[in-house]
Amino acid sequence: MDVYQVITTHRTIRKYKEATIPPEHLEKIIHSALRAPSSSNLQAYSIIRITDKNLRKQIAELAGKQEQIVTASEFFIFIADMYRLINCCRGIGVEAAQPNFLMLYVATVDAALAAQNMTLTAESLGYGTCYIGAIQEDPCGIAKLLNLPEYTYPLFGLTIGVPDEDPALRPRLPREAILHENRYPDDDSNVKAALNAFKGTEFHDSFKRRIKRYYSEAGRYKDRYNRMKNCLLKQGFNV
Ligand SMILES: Cc1cc2nc3c(=O)[nH]c(=O)nc-3n(C[C@H](O)[C@H](O)[C@H](O)COP(=O)(O)O)c2cc1C
Repeated sequence: MDVYQVITTHRTIRKYKEATIPPEHLEKIIHSALRAPSSSNLQAYSIIRITDKNLRKQIAELAGKQEQIVTASEFFIFIADMYRLINCCRGIGVEAAQPNFLMLYVATVDAALAAQNMTLTAESLGYGTCYIGAIQEDPCGIAKLLNLPEYTYPLFGLTIGVPDEDPALRPRLPREAILHENRYPDDDSNVKAALNAFKGTEFHDSFKRRIKRYYSEAGRYKDRYNRMKNCLLKQGFNV
C-alpha cells in the first residue's frame, strides 16, 4: 500500500490473533520510529518495548484493564526523556535546566511523531495498532513498574498485532470544524459544524458522550490531570 492509502484506511485495532511479528518486520517498525523528525534532532524520548507478559498484565491493570495490552504481539511505551539529555548536559560539563512544560511539550511531540511513524509502518505491513493513552490513569504506577528515573514521564503506549477484527472506518469531523484559512473563525462556525456532525448516525450521540466523559468539569481528564501533575512533580519536573 502507498502511504496515502495506509493513512486513509487506518482503523484502531483492539483485538489481535496470537502471533509473533517476524524480526525483519519488527526491525522496520522500530527503525521507522527512530527516523522520525525530532526537535533540534535531540530525540527527547525513549521507547520501552514490553516483552514480559506478566509486566503487560500489571500495566493493563493500571490502564483500566485494556485487554489489547496483553494480547498484542508487541507493546511499546513512549517516555518523555529528559534524564538522558540532562545527563548528557552533565557529561559535557554544562549545567542542566530543570525540565519544565516546554521540554515536556518538545518530548511529547517528538514521541508522537516517532509513534505515528511506527504505526504507519506497522499498518503498511498488515498489522493493526492501538494507542494507549489510558496509561495516564496511573502514570506514577507505570513509572514505578518501568523503573523510570527522575526527569522521565510515561506518555502513552502503542500495541501492535495481527488484526482479529475488521471494524469500519471511524468518522472524522467535517473539514469546516478543523481547517481554517488565515485566521481562526469568529462566528463559531467550527463549533456548530462539530455539534452538527454525524447527525442521523450513532456517532452523533457517541461524540457528545465522549465530550462529556472527557471534557466536562466532572470528566475523566480532571482526575487524570491531577495524577499527571503529581507524577510530573515526583519525577522532578518543574510544572
Ligand atoms: C493519544 C491517543 C490515545 C489513545 N488511547 C487509547 C486507549 O487508551 N485505549 C483505546 O482503546 N484506544 C485509544 N486510542 C484510540 C482512539 O480511541 C482512536 O484513535 C479513535 O477512537 C479513532 O478511531 P480510529 O483510530 O479507528 O480512527 C488513543 C488514540 C490516541 C491518538
